[in-house]
Amino acid sequence: MNQLGLGVAITGSGSATPAASLDNHRLSQIVETSDEWISARTGIRSRHLADAEQSLSDLATVASQQAIAMAGISPAEIDLIILATSSADDLFGTAGKIQAQLGALQAVAFDMTAACSGFIFGLVTASQFIRTGVYKNVLLIGADILSRWVDWSDRRTCILFGDGAGAVILQADERDRLLGFELRSDGTQNSSLQLAYEPQPQALLEGTTIAKGTYQPITMNGQDIYRFAVRKVPEVIEKALHRANLGVEQIDWLLLHQANQRILDAVAERLKIPPQKIISNLEKYGNTSAASIPLALDEAVREGKVKAGDIIASAGFGAGLSWGATIFEWGR
Ligand code: UT7
Repeated sequence: MNQLGLGVAITGSGSATPAASLDNHRLSQIVETSDEWISARTGIRSRHLADAEQSLSDLATVASQQAIAMAGISPAEIDLIILATSSADDLFGTAGKIQAQLGALQAVAFDMTAACSGFIFGLVTASQFIRTGVYKNVLLIGADILSRWVDWSDRRTCILFGDGAGAVILQADERDRLLGFELRSDGTQNSSLQLAYEPQPQALLEGTTIAKGTYQPITMNGQDIYRFAVRKVPEVIEKALHRANLGVEQIDWLLLHQANQRILDAVAERLKIPPQKIISNLEKYGNTSAASIPLALDEAVREGKVKAGDIIASAGFGAGLSWGATIFEWGR
């Protein structure tokens, strides 16, 4: 139990991906690449892609309905909905649309953006509302459709990303299962990974100029991000473990943002976590950004791999730059 006497339990999960998938072989008809290169360098073999009919709110709603059902609550009992995303249907926010689609009309709903760290930042944010006694039931969603923002002629980035949504329910409980966390940002390296607005000056009147324009496709320095992840992620996991008063050997599962199998393996190796404790599903989905952690968690829970009482070290990392880790116990 934390100092305020209110604890957090994660009691339900859900996930959704678009029906259509694109494997490496078919992707190599779009850019000059190969299944061998992508598999060896990333571990990714396929990704699911949303078509023009599919919205982020639709995917998020399906994932949320599953999480709500697993937690055994009704949508009307949800107090807060947080949508972690970088690819909202609407820049004014998409969480409200999900609230309406779920019929969770008592809930306050908002979006938050921390790129591929969004789910971890959201987990900590949601927990604060519960720990302070303000809310009892929180729906946290991580969802992204980055296929809409990828440059499909850039083989250095388009091979990595896929679309999806994952969700969890956090509930107030006597015992606190969010055992430790550490969040970090470094804006000095912001240019290493961007989905940036590019202004085009437009004169309205003489002396009054505004900017029109649009967001430009993802740009990334892959090697910089790779080095950053392998160096910084073990550090935050160690800090979060220290706060949780746990040793690395007490972790049942390592659940990292699903960016690249080589990153997952290198982080596990640095922390001396055996490979069988790594949760990985990026082979099927690629990097689904804010969705990747709850998507992998939900699959592992439904496969019966992750069980109530298991201790999970989970870390996100990506644009911002941002990174962070949580140590939590699944279920109650
Ligand atoms: O959510 C966080 C998102 N970002 C990440 O997680 C990215 C982290 N970085 C990475 O995962 C890796 O850096 C990549 C997978 C992006 C790239 O792997 P790499 O081992 O760092 O490759 P590289 O960029 O050093 O490129 C090696 C070679 C280059 O050719 P030369 O210059 O050695 O002749 C590239 O031009 O591979 C070439 N290359 C490709 N070849 C075939 C780059 N992309 C491809 C490709 N297919 N798709």
